[in-house]
Amino acid sequence: MPTPQKRINELRQQLTHHNYLYYVDARPEISDRVYDRLLDELKRLEAEHPELQSPDSPTQRVGGQPIDGFVTVKHREPMLSIDNSYNADDLREFDQRVAKLLKDEAPIYVVELKIDGVAMSITYLDGALTVGTTRGDGEQGDDVTHNIRTINDVPLKLPESPRLFETRGEVYMTRADFAQYNRDRVARGLEPAANPRNLSAGTLKLLDPKECRRRRLRFFAYALGPCEGVAVNTHLESLELLKRFGFPVNPHIASFDSIAGVIDYCNSWATKRHDLNYETDGMVIKVNDFAQRKKLGTTARSPRWVIAYKFAAEQGITKLVSIDIQVGKFGTLTPVANLEPVHLAGTTVSRASLHNADFIASKDIRVGDTVVIEKAGEIIPYVVRSEPDARTGSEIVFTFPATCPACSSTVERDKNGTFYRCIGGRKCTAQVKEILQGYARRSTMDIEGLGEKIIEQLVDAGLVKSIADLYRLTLEQVVGLERMGKKSAQNLLDGLAASKERGLARLLAGLAIPHVGDSVADVLANAFVTVDALAEASVERLAQIQGVGPIMAQAIHDYFHDEHNQSLITELRSLGLKLTQDQRPSPAQTGGTDFTGKTFVVTGTLSKYGREEIEALIRSLGGKATGSVSKSTSYLIAGEKAGSKMNKAKQLGVPVLSEDEFDKLIGK
Ligand code: IVH
Repeated sequence: MPTPQKRINELRQQLTHHNYLYYVDARPEISDRVYDRLLDELKRLEAEHPELQSPDSPTQRVGGQPIDGFVTVKHREPMLSIDNSYNADDLREFDQRVAKLLKDEAPIYVVELKIDGVAMSITYLDGALTVGTTRGDGEQGDDVTHNIRTINDVPLKLPESPRLFETRGEVYMTRADFAQYNRDRVARGLEPAANPRNLSAGTLKLLDPKECRRRRLRFFAYALGPCEGVAVNTHLESLELLKRFGFPVNPHIASFDSIAGVIDYCNSWATKRHDLNYETDGMVIKVNDFAQRKKLGTTARSPRWVIAYKFAAEQGITKLVSIDIQVGKFGTLTPVANLEPVHLAGTTVSRASLHNADFIASKDIRVGDTVVIEKAGEIIPYVVRSEPDARTGSEIVFTFPATCPACSSTVERDKNGTFYRCIGGRKCTAQVKEILQGYARRSTMDIEGLGEKIIEQLVDAGLVKSIADLYRLTLEQVVGLERMGKKSAQNLLDGLAASKERGLARLLAGLAIPHVGDSVADVLANAFVTVDALAEASVERLAQIQGVGPIMAQAIHDYFHDEHNQSLITELRSLGLKLTQDQRPSPAQTGGTDFTGKTFVVTGTLSKYGREEIEALIRSLGGKATGSVSKSTSYLIAGEKAGSKMNKAKQLGVPVLSEDEFDKLIGK
């Protein structure tokens, strides 16, 4: 048994990791249910050992960090998360807690579908849409206004003009639009998206609103945020107001004066929900009366007047037939279970990731075992446990191979013993294939026609051993591949030629530099402009860049000091790839200004710059642009009609700059 302190630390670490995967990456690895189990265990341990409580424990917080690369906006009121329940008993318990706190006042419960999308706050000032923000970590999220404006469901102007109006709701995608999107992806030889929620989250993070519009996001409003000049006293009244203001409100809403009614209504949706044209992952039960809500209050994590009811994840029992090893771009071996197919939550499941050696060992999963599989909502299937009682004696304990299944290089175990890694590097065909896939992806070099299957063939045929080899392919070679006509071969070559112009940011994102994802690549390209400047940067210089930590700085430095990577860059240069970044003022224009560590807020109407333009300029000089003035704001840039932010800046002694003064500051 680990000590409580040790277990608490482990749980905090795991929960923080899964929070990040869920909120920032939109790529959860475990179901909500498993997450909740971990969180419950942590809550229980902290309650038993109050001396081990800590203000930064995941029990005290709502979610993860906002992503890099977008402007962060602080929510006027935090976007809290809600507690989950899984069965009728949980709901009765919730009802009893509510009744106890409200004494004799009986609550009315409003029950809604829990739409499986992305939480969004949309603000209107004097009736005009001003900003749409993701939930982020609950305190502050990303400004995605440019994409929100593309959603047909979202009114740009309200029929009335309250001074401040904020709605909160869910951005989602219909099953039909999702299916269409994936058909197009597959037809282009690209990986399909995992589920509508992930795709919605990814779409909101797009920089280009035109592409966002094509994906046809939708919106359901389910609450009011902070408002001024709006009088409502109950949730039902606020939904009526939202409808009157032109927001789509989900029609399947019912209210009850008893928890029994709530339970029946929830159950009635357990299977019916699959007929809807959008995904739901449960129900939300809310106390209707706002005065009662106030009485019930809020815990550190969530309000006491609301609870989510999650439809139990479907579980199935099947047999683990064998374990495959997948080799990732950096050589990590991931075990994947081949299962006897079982039907679960609307799909047939025949594979599930077993993550790593620890996962397999901690669950004592053996080849041939009977295993319990769970699929919560539309999430990746999860192996809950093995059933040792069902063993016949012929099950085999899994051992990682000593050599790489793709290239036969030695496999090494990392310091902690959790991961096994193939040391073959660029000699390993599996690693090369993964790297090429990452390079051809839409958000990196976007190479039309270069999908998984083609990459597989190019590498297996020995035609491509590195990224540079792609650009040396001839029509003859490509036509020689299986099922490849002259036309598609030419398309591939055209796609490759077009990719040469993508520029530094996307190239960096595609090179498989450890720890460097799309948004860090963007930051680096803007900060250094040329690949040479980046390659020459010291670890210290790299670590000064906003969003680049010390580990990342070291990894980037190491990458560019590796001989093979250096010759790859040289080859790419001579093959005609663009190794620089556009749209950044030259150092001459900005007098070598460095805003690293400085935070700016822009307010009022500017005359020389667009808001986004000046914010991009600040970021390109290493600074940060945020939405609200605080002690840590370095400068407020104020245009015409600067309002409350100006007063706040004066109060706090934050220096205020006009556009001309800003230009002077950057030496323009
Ligand atoms: S109410 C403080 N109602 O579920 C309560 N949330 O944490 C605010 N969700 O991601 C949430 N449908 O965006 C509410 N009808 C609904 C909902 C809903 C989906 C999402 C919400 C958040 C999560 C709850």
